[in-house]
Order: sequence, then structure tokens, then C-alpha cells
Amino acid sequence: MGGTGNTPASAGKFEKNEKTYEVRFFDENSFFDLRDLREIVQSPGVQSWMSSVRNMTHKHYGKWMRERGEGNNFLFAIAGADPSEDTQGESGVQRIHGFIYFYPSDKLHGAIEISYAKRPGAPGGLISSAVKIGCQLVKERVGEIKIMGEIEKSNLPSIVAIEKAGFVKTRDFDRYGNGYWTLDWKKLV
Ligand SMILES: CC(C)(COP(=O)(O)OP(=O)(O)OC[C@H]1O[C@@H](n2cnc3c(N)ncnc32)[C@H](O)[C@@H]1OP(=O)(O)O)[C@@H](O)C(=O)NCCC(=O)NCCS
Repeated sequence: MGGTGNTPASAGKFEKNEKTYEVRFFDENSFFDLRDLREIVQSPGVQSWMSSVRNMTHKHYGKWMRERGEGNNFLFAIAGADPSEDTQGESGVQRIHGFIYFYPSDKLHGAIEISYAKRPGAPGGLISSAVKIGCQLVKERVGEIKIMGEIEKSNLPSIVAIEKAGFVKTRDFDRYGNGYWTLDWKKLV
């Protein structure tokens, strides 16, 4: 298990449509990381399901961006070239296209829960690859822990994305319309 911080073990890369993306920790000192995280959090899609991120102040963002594994809280950024730029990396302009957040579950004792979201306007279809890498990075720190996500029945893009990342439905929808998905580590190869 590695330490905390932006060590090589805390980042991983993947390719999609001939472009390279990186799953890494946020840099709380980066204006760009903060700007993009705010944009994601303030998007209607996120505000509607993640009550804990409503009314976040500058201080809250800073604290959240520093969550690099302490207490099993991991916030990862999906970084890659700005799609409004023509070139891949040549201009050096990078954007944060989404986040993947792991945190101790209050539903299943000893499990880690996952949440994720993309930035409005970010390329689609990055989340499932990024979730896979995020899970591997968590494994490097804490081993093959139980990782679960709670998703609303109506959130089809989220269900498609998490199943593509190797999660399987382990609890059917309750009367509020929420089901549980759990990572099948065997699918994560
Ligand atoms: C969930 C979320 C991260 C998915 O991002 P994404 O993977 O980039 O989303 P996409 O638009 O590529 O959709 C994922 C898949 O769902 C499919 N999909 C989208 N809407 C759909 C619908 N109404 N019915 C069926 N499938 C649908 C897409 O076709 C896509 O499938 P593909 O990969 O085979 O093309 C994004 O929608 C988001 O940020 N939502 C708001 C936050 C959120 O709900 N997070 C999850 C909380 S647990």
C-alpha cells in the first residue's frame, strides 16, 4: 500500500477514441481543477441527487479536493484534453471531465460507496473506464474492499455506466426506487 499524495501509484491512464485520459487526485492549488469541479457540482444533474454537495463553500471544495485516501475518502479527477481544442495534449489545455468519489458507506458497514459525475459538455462514455481505474487505485491502498453504489431506478445512464465498470446489482429497488450495485472484482481485469 502506498502513502498519500500525488505519487505515481495514485494515478492511472486510459484511452478513449484515440485520446488519453488520466484518473488522478485533484490539485487543490489549481484554479482550473477547482473551476471544473465547481462546474460539475453545480450542474443540475449532480444537484438533484447529491444533497451533500449543495451549498458548498470555497473552504468545502478545498477540503474535498484534499481527500486522498485518509479515512477511506478518495476524490479522483478525470483529466484530459479540452474537447474544444483540436489537438490531443499538444496545446497543453486540459480539463477535468468528471469526478469519481469513494467514501465509507453508511448503508453497508465496512464497505466503500462510490459516486461519480461528468462535467456538462464533457465527452460521454468516460465514466465507466474511469470508475475501473478508480477502483484499482483504491485497491492499491486498501485491498479488495467491498465497493457499492446506490442508484435510482430512473438514472439509466448511471446504471449503464456502473455495470460497464464491472458492478452487478445486489439489491433490488426499494420503495424509494433505489437499488444497490456492488463491484465484482473478478470483472475488473
Ligand atoms: C451518470 C453519468 C456520470 C454517466 O456519464 P457517461 O457515462 O458519460 O454518460 P453517457 O451519456 O455516455 O451514458 C452512459 C450510457 O448510458 C446510455 N444511456 C443514456 N441515457 C439513457 C437512457 N435514457 N436509456 C438507456 N440508456 C441510456 C448511453 O447510451 C450510454 O451508453 P453507451 O456507453 O453504450 O453509449 C452522467 O450522466 C452524470 O454525470 N449524471 C449526473 C450525475 C449522476 O447521476 N451520477 C450518478 C449517481 S450514483
